[in-house]
Amino acid sequence: MLPKRSRLGEVRGPISNGPMQSRPLVALLDGRDCSIEMPILKDVATVAFCDAQSTSEIHEKVLNEAVGALMWHTIILTKEDLEKFKALRIIVRIGSGVDNIDVKAAGELGIAVCNVPGYGVEEVADTTMCLILNLYRRTYWLANMVREGKKFTGPEQVRDAAQGCARIRGDTLGLVGLGRIGSAVALRAKVFGFNVSFYDPYLPDGIEKSLGLTRVYTLQELLFHSDCVSLHCTLNEHNHHLINEFTIKQMRPGAFLVNTARGGLVDDEALAHALKQGRIRAAALDVHENEPYNGALKDAPNLLCTPHAAFYSEAATTELREMAASEIRRAIIGNIPDCLRNCVNKEYFLRSSTGGGAGGYSEGGLQQAHSTTPLEAPHSAGSHGPPSGPPPPSVAVPPVSAVTAPPPQAS
Ligand SMILES: NC(=O)c1ccc[n+]([C@@H]2O[C@H](COP(=O)([O-])OP(=O)(O)OC[C@H]3O[C@@H](n4cnc5c(N)ncnc54)[C@H](O)[C@@H]3O)[C@@H](O)[C@H]2O)c1
Repeated sequence: MLPKRSRLGEVRGPISNGPMQSRPLVALLDGRDCSIEMPILKDVATVAFCDAQSTSEIHEKVLNEAVGALMWHTIILTKEDLEKFKALRIIVRIGSGVDNIDVKAAGELGIAVCNVPGYGVEEVADTTMCLILNLYRRTYWLANMVREGKKFTGPEQVRDAAQGCARIRGDTLGLVGLGRIGSAVALRAKVFGFNVSFYDPYLPDGIEKSLGLTRVYTLQELLFHSDCVSLHCTLNEHNHHLINEFTIKQMRPGAFLVNTARGGLVDDEALAHALKQGRIRAAALDVHENEPYNGALKDAPNLLCTPHAAFYSEAATTELREMAASEIRRAIIGNIPDCLRNCVNKEYFLRSSTGGGAGGYSEGGLQQAHSTTPLEAPHSAGSHGPPSGPPPPSVAVPPVSAVTAPPPQAS
């Protein structure tokens, strides 16, 4: 049964962008820099930034009039927060996780929630390979010895310092999860000479053949056969602490472990214990259950940690922001949710996309918005100039404006 959507028709009108009406307002909730978003949106919307950490810091104008919101991860939108927005139709998370938004409440209020899942795939895959290579070649530890002034005067010193450096060719890399990032790692790892196996119970049969990989059907089998285990699955209630005291015992003694997915997949205490025992030879983690990292693993040996930066490159960040702004643009010039690429609460709008039944969303305002630009924006800043024709109508708020509420008065 479809979720209740009784409020939709009453609350949410169409996103309007015609010459007879004021331009739709799009607000960046928790940031200031709109330099990448502006070229993509300027011909269809007024863009404002709020730089807020909570909805109490957001100006009334945005709460009353914004039809689109862009947000990073520094603001939380609960049901109560969402109810403060009177015209909001779409929220786009500039990132992949939507855990800081009450997605269900948004759906019930007729607000589509979107994310940007595909950005940074290559960066995370490259970082994963970088970490795996460091575990095999011990580059990080060797470089630290040089920095600390250790002198290598002959082959014996090199041999002693490089103890544990291992050959890759012929070793088995076991991937837990073969989605976007897992498959990018698989392709890279094969070039280095790894035999690559994976465990992903949600993929159809045959995927292993198209990528030339070995598929196993239980986690236990993967752990048993892998010299290095790398985690690439999403975190959910079923796989919290997937790597724990029990599953570590199923790993090959002396195996490596890499986690660039989510901190909650690994039980830090169990890993710290296994590293101290040497049961796990070395581990590399980009993500931690509690970030910034500070916990059971603090004194663990043979551990290489990075600060959840695997996704980052300037190119990936630009791409991420372009993709987020383009999703807002699609919502303004098209139909929600049909025109959206990554709507995570689509089920709340399905009746509209099938033409809408009696009382369906199509009656409540998910109509084609008037548009000055019928074409979808390409994914590149700078190519979003205004369309030919009359200039956009003048707007009440300057194109990029700070719309933050005044700081709360001391009572
Ligand atoms: N470190 C970073 O900066 C960074 C950046 C982006 C993404 N990530 C994380 O990387 C991970 C992979 O991202 P993605 O874009 O490839 O996701 P994705 O959704 O494309 O792939 C995830 C895969 O994991 C599989 N899966 C789910 N539960 C599983 C389980 N219990 N066992 C085995 N497989 C399972 C799914 O079937 C899917 O194929 C996610 O956890 C994501 O949050 C980290």
